[in-house]
Amino acid sequence: MKIVKGTAAWLKLRAGPLFKGKTVGFVPTMGALHAGHRSLLKRAKKDNSLSIASIFVNPAQFNDKRDLARYPRTLAGDIEILQKEKTDFLLLPGAGDMYPDGYRYRLSENSDSKVLCGAHRPGHFEGVLTVVLKLLNLVRADKAYFGEKDYQQFHLVREMAEAFFTGTKIIPCPTLREADGLAMSSRNLLLTTEERQLAPALYKALRSSARPEEINRQLSELGFEPEYIEERWGRRFAAAKLGKVRLIDNVKLAFVP
Ligand code: PAJ
Repeated sequence: MKIVKGTAAWLKLRAGPLFKGKTVGFVPTMGALHAGHRSLLKRAKKDNSLSIASIFVNPAQFNDKRDLARYPRTLAGDIEILQKEKTDFLLLPGAGDMYPDGYRYRLSENSDSKVLCGAHRPGHFEGVLTVVLKLLNLVRADKAYFGEKDYQQFHLVREMAEAFFTGTKIIPCPTLREADGLAMSSRNLLLTTEERQLAPALYKALRSSARPEEINRQLSELGFEPEYIEERWGRRFAAAKLGKVRLIDNVKLAFVP
């Protein structure tokens, strides 16, 4: 695997002979890689002649500074995982590389980014869409892979990629879960032992026949602090805090009894 640190070095490589006549699959990440990320990397490898991952903990999408400071950073382990997945390139930009403009230019969306997580994390999707557009422009992939675990993100990125004629097809990938049902997430590393035991109740509640208001009440009783339980786009979405950790999950309404 070739590791490329700066955007200038990357753009030079991208224009060179290594990419001639190749199809390119891209998986953008913030690192702390787990089996969920690995499923995207496998798919990118299988569908394309070259696979590219990026790791960039994007400050612009953290509305809470403490969340950014706490975000797990496990680069050595991440590189080992990427090598096991036979990823061809790792793009590893610094904050100065991604924001030469100091984040003066931003991409906003005025409808679907304002609901669910967008209603509770001001500026979050602006940060996500801005960095993803920058990454798509840098990588110029045929396909980019996004997890349904962050379904609202996938939805907004897919429509943004079309709206701005990026030429990259956005591919959804199913949510990978732990054996007890908890959706895999880099933030799960931050749960205490007790919280980790409680965490799968979120997924269980989402799949229950109870109505959203009832689920909200049940989760609060268990010790969660629910932000929203809401149905749209044929899915049921939830976000809830457990201690300091914010968990999100969603299921297709077809799976709700
Ligand atoms: P990150 O949280 O690292 O996730 C990178 C990708 O992995 C996202 O597409 C996410 O949906 C997917 N993913 C995470 N957990 C998953 C799981 N359990 N099953 C399947 N896929 C999973 O999402 C981001 O980073 C950032 O917002 C990013 C898009 C990189 C922009 O900064």
